[in-house]
Amino acid sequence: MKIDIYSPESYTSGIPHEEFAWLRANAPVYWHQHPQGGGYWVVSRHADVVTVSRDFKTYSAEQGFVMVDDMDDDILQMVRNQLLGMDPPRHAPLRRAVITRFTSKRLAALEPQVREIARGIMERAGAMDELNFVEDLAGDLPTAVICSLLDIPEDMWPQIRRWSDLCTSASDPDLGGTPEEVNQASIEMGTYGFQLACERKDKGGDDLISLLINQEVDGEKVTEAEFASLFVQIAVAGNETTRGLISSGLYLLAKHPEAYRELEANPELLPSAVEEMLRWTCPLHYFRRTATCETELAGQVIAAGDRVVMLYSSANFDENVFIKPMDFDIHRNPNPHLAFGYGIHLCLGANLARMEARLFLEEFFRKFRGLELTGEPTYICSNLVHGYKEMPARLLARD
Ligand code: HEM
Repeated sequence: MKIDIYSPESYTSGIPHEEFAWLRANAPVYWHQHPQGGGYWVVSRHADVVTVSRDFKTYSAEQGFVMVDDMDDDILQMVRNQLLGMDPPRHAPLRRAVITRFTSKRLAALEPQVREIARGIMERAGAMDELNFVEDLAGDLPTAVICSLLDIPEDMWPQIRRWSDLCTSASDPDLGGTPEEVNQASIEMGTYGFQLACERKDKGGDDLISLLINQEVDGEKVTEAEFASLFVQIAVAGNETTRGLISSGLYLLAKHPEAYRELEANPELLPSAVEEMLRWTCPLHYFRRTATCETELAGQVIAAGDRVVMLYSSANFDENVFIKPMDFDIHRNPNPHLAFGYGIHLCLGANLARMEARLFLEEFFRKFRGLELTGEPTYICSNLVHGYKEMPARLLARD
């Protein structure tokens, strides 16, 4: 079988299930050519993705960061200040500092505010006739939540969203803009983060920025430059992914009216349904590691320095782990999907994203009796981000 899972165009019809199934069955650790020369290992089975994620000594996030394309040294230095780009021992102290804002107690305290935001969104949506569900509806909640956590002035929210979209969707000409604009976006966003850090240093605020910038990590304060990278990651990580979960999740419900009706009548089933949406929508197809030494995975020798790509969106459909993986089953239990990764880098915002999706759906059900798709949705053209860019729909108001 001809395998091309690098080209962003390979994802414009969604997850390439056929190719992924072939890889899992025939070449679970597969050498894939890279268009800029050389290649990389593609790991497609659930068990092997877990092994790579777990073994941070052999598979480094810091050495070459988490994107399949190698980065220039100056950018690599910058992204190594993101949690996602740190190995132990740097990783744990910073992660411990950030995680204090994402505990279940903190999230429970945040819930009324997030619900309020979701209600406002439904009110505004109620006045629209036909809309692009992704842009007009699903995107507002993640941006508002992340910006509230960071205490960013409301007039800056659209700008944060635009920057973060540019950072994640560079390969889609409809979204990404020119390479210069994409570079510019990450520089401007970092500069804005730097400014915020300077403003809030030693001011004793209670938002996530103040917490981070005034925090000692191993006896040293986070510098403004380190903070700027971290800021970009948190703002970007929380936007596109959660929007993808919400819009693709609702699409799945529109295509499975029996599940829609069941959830509408029994919202207590939403947490389990959201897990199944995560398995299906898997907003990030992959993250990468770099082998620190020669090793072996599923019988395949991997050389020191090799790139290793963990295909989450394949692992989530591994027939050795999920019974009838192609069934959308809101009652699936257990559901050990890998949409949030695994191991020391397991998504820090996982429970926040779950809560946002649940509250969005609860408020959606309250206001609307359904949605009608008025055209086929189109996928973002990307080998990293899995989600729709456009989903034309009409909302059916309750009478
Ligand atoms: C549906 C939504 C989301 C998905 C699918 C998602 C997915 C992921 C994945 C796959 C990882 C990497 C795990 C690994 O390398 O093993 C990750 C890490 C991370 N995510 Fe998320 N994410 C989502 C939402 C969020 C939100 C809302 C936030 C912030 C508020 C966030 C912040 C982070 C951070 C800070 C990390 C790095 C953690 C570390 O390296 O220790 N994410 N996420």
